[in-house]
This record gives sequence, C-alpha cells and structure tokens, in this order.
Amino acid sequence: MAEQLKAKMILDKSYEISKVDERIYGSFIEHLGRAVYGGFYEPGHPEADEQGFRKDVIELVKELNVPVVRYPGGNMVSAYNWEDGVGPKEERPRRLELAWRTIETNEVGTNEFVDWAKKVNAEVMMAVNLGTRGIDAARNLIEYTNHTKGTYWSDLRRSHGYEQPHNIKTWCLGNEMDGPWQVGQKTAAEYGKIAKETGKAMKLVDPGIELVACGSSHAGMPTFPEYDATTLDIAYEEVDYISLHQYYGNKANDPANYLAKNMEMDHFINTVTSTCDYIKAKHRSKKTMHLSFDEWNVWYHSNDQDKAIEPWSIAPPQLEDVYNFEDALLVGSMLITLLKHADRVKMACMAQLVNVIAPIMTENDGRSWKQTIFYPYMHASLYGRGISLKPVLSSPKYDSKEFTDVPYIDSAAVYDEESEAVTIFLVNKHLSEDIPLQADVRSFEGYSVVEHSVLEHEDLKAVNTAGHQAVQPHNRGEAALTDGKLEAVLKKTSWNVIRLKK
Ligand code: AHR
Repeated sequence: MAEQLKAKMILDKSYEISKVDERIYGSFIEHLGRAVYGGFYEPGHPEADEQGFRKDVIELVKELNVPVVRYPGGNMVSAYNWEDGVGPKEERPRRLELAWRTIETNEVGTNEFVDWAKKVNAEVMMAVNLGTRGIDAARNLIEYTNHTKGTYWSDLRRSHGYEQPHNIKTWCLGNEMDGPWQVGQKTAAEYGKIAKETGKAMKLVDPGIELVACGSSHAGMPTFPEYDATTLDIAYEEVDYISLHQYYGNKANDPANYLAKNMEMDHFINTVTSTCDYIKAKHRSKKTMHLSFDEWNVWYHSNDQDKAIEPWSIAPPQLEDVYNFEDALLVGSMLITLLKHADRVKMACMAQLVNVIAPIMTENDGRSWKQTIFYPYMHASLYGRGISLKPVLSSPKYDSKEFTDVPYIDSAAVYDEESEAVTIFLVNKHLSEDIPLQADVRSFEGYSVVEHSVLEHEDLKAVNTAGHQAVQPHNRGEAALTDGKLEAVLKKTSWNVIRLKK
C-alpha cells in the first residue's frame, strides 16, 4: 500500500522575511477593450453615479481592497497623448489607438481616473509615454498633476476644475520598451538613457515621487536579463524600482505542469534581484533596487477570439479571459510567491482589474460578477498585510513536464502584530489526494483558529458566470489548533486560508 502523503510545517514569529508592502495587492486598468468603457465607466447604466462610474463595480473593487491601480497602460501608453484626455469632454479628440487597434474616445482621462481611484480608496500609479514621446510630455504631465499652482500646466488643471494637485506618487517610465510590439520599441541603451533623463526631469518637478523603470517584458525575452542590467547600469540612481511582467497559460491542458508555473515566477524574481544587486555592486551604490511586479496573471483563454475582433471598434470585448478553477489555484500560488519575496517585491499589479484579463466582469448595461481568481486575490489582499513569515515546510513533491521537485503544498504566512493575527495561505496542487498538514505554531501562544476558508471544486475547468458563482470559497475547512500544533486536511486541488487570532 502506498504511504499516505503528508506535509509538515514550522511557523515561528521570528522567521521574518519582511514587512509586506501593501502595494503588492495593486491592480491595473488600461485603456483596452472594456476595462474603462463598459467596465468601470458607463454613463447611462442603471448603477452609474453622477460621473458615469458604475457603483456595482466600485463595490466589487472595494471588496478587493486594492491599494494602488496602474494607469493608463500598458501597451496603450506608448502612443498616448495625455493632453487628449483632459479638459472639456466635448473637445477631446477621438484617436486611433495603435496598441490594440481600436478607437479611443478620450471620454475618460487622467482627472476622471484620479476621481475614480479615490472612490475605490486606491492610489494611482501613472505611466508616461516613452514610446512616441519623452521628457517634455512627461514633465508637463507631472506639472499638471502634482504642481500646486501658478504655472501653465498646474493652472490648466485648476481651470479643468481640479484646484488641488493630485500628488501622484508612483510613476512608470514607459511600458515594456524591449517589446517589438511596442510603439517606439527601444534598445536597452536607448531606453536606459531616456528613462534616466525623463526620471531626472520628473524628480526636478516633484522630488517626492518614486519611479519604476521597465525591465524585460517577460522572462522569456531573448534579451532578458541583459536588458534589465543595461537599463539599470544607466539609470540606477534615478529610478527606485524595476518592473517585471509575466502571464501564464495552460494551452497544453496539463494541470500538474500548469500549477507549478509559479516556480518559474520565483526563479524570475530571483534572477531580477541578482541583476539589481550586480549593478548595485558595480556602482558601489548604497541603494537597494526594489521590484515592481506590475503585470501578473493568467492570460491565454481569449487569445483566439481576440483575433476575430474588427479593428477600429470602440471598446470591443478584448482579452476577456473567462477564468476557471485551476486558474484561481495558480493565481493563489503566484500570490504566495510574491509574499515569499516581500523583502524585494514592493509593488505588484494583478493585470488587470475589470473585464480585461480581470477578476471582475461586467455586461454592458447589465450585471457584474466575480471571476474565480477574484477570491485568492481578495483573501491575500485582506489578510496578507503584516510581516511575511517564512514557513519551514516539508511537502511531498512531484515532477511535471517542465519542472522537477514541485512541492504539492505551497505556502506563505503573514503575521500582523498589531491585531495579533496570523494568516497561513496554502495551495494543495495534488490532482487527486487530500494532504494532511501538521504545523508547529508554538511561538503563537494563546492563538486559536478563527477561520479556515477553502476554495475547491470537483471540476478544474469550472467557471463563474453572471448568474452563477460555481467557484466560491466556503468556511467549512476543519483546521484545529491544540497545544501549539495546528492540524488541517488540505483538500486535493484547493486554496486554503487559515486564520489564527489571539
Ligand atoms: O495587460 C495586457 C498587456 O500585456 C499590456 O498592455 C502589456 O503591457 C502586456 O504585454
């Protein structure tokens, strides 16, 4: 008879990785498909507020407690004129949007987005166009958003009805500038130079800002990690973060291999961290570069249907991945990976937020609902704030097509000293076996289990629709804690959130 699989863990409050920067639970809205128009903005919708923002969407975003939202792109920003999106709406031009080959009406722009972000209690992470434009447009934009008054651009903002500056703190210097799909693609030397000079000018306008330089578009780019190294070599002292982007898919329909893909994400983060530290050493710099994983998610379901979209339509249904249960498990594992790197990854954006590869879906003029991936994102954002702890975990392992020694159990834990709460996030990737877990949590004296929430489903391909939440968490997990020993059964293919409180 085969031996029963089991997992063991030691979790101690002194095994600190780092304080979690809450901005790792950020998200992203691009002018793409129905993210803006028909997504969070739809005047005439029965739920629209006085500015045309859908209140049902606002409520769903608030449930996720999203701290920061990246905007307005993405690929779109590389040919975007920010001036098109401010001032009287009736005067705003319609433009060909080149990244996604649609028509951009510019009904929503910087000021509307800042207003919307306030309504969902999020900060804005703004990207500037370093594709078709550069230093001049970027320094004008930051003067418009962040300077108080008495100059051309700040007074223009005031004349548009915004007396107070928006004080946007975090700025992305372009987007995926290594990508041949980018309007205005640049070599690392070209990009490093423009990022450095643009960043310098922006910090002259507002020294309080933080800047994110583009790293490689994903780990599979042929110039990765050299692109990142060259960029940092040029701009190290001007920038504060380097960006990482990565999407995964299961086109081959190999769930065991798919669920292991966060190991690749882990390796990607380690490589970028080493690249940053190499440049730090080369420059004899005292500054440690942090990582902004500002696009991550699953993206593949919609690839084929997107090919059929008519060019130059307005807000077509682009990148509308319908996520299934196994996607939620991988998203949970990716969140665990981000938490394990809380010492270096200080910002991260699930890409994206509404309709476009998103946890929230809407119908034009209709309903809105939560996709499967909504739930692990929500759990991590709500309960993953505090100190990221390093669980010492011994888990049975498996091999898959691309990976060896994949732990069946993935885990991260967060301790919030103030509220005396500990949350353990766990994924069981085993396709057919429940795995019992025994954890030594003796350092958390006087704590007990307040909730063991589980996301599970018999069918890995189960999806949520407007009318039916087939995949949603329940609180019937049976984790129990006695004498410093926490025991739980982790159901096959499940996402678990075990919350302890004193
Ligand atoms: O999020 C969708 C797209 O993916 C973004 O526009 C781009 O930055 C990335 O390639």
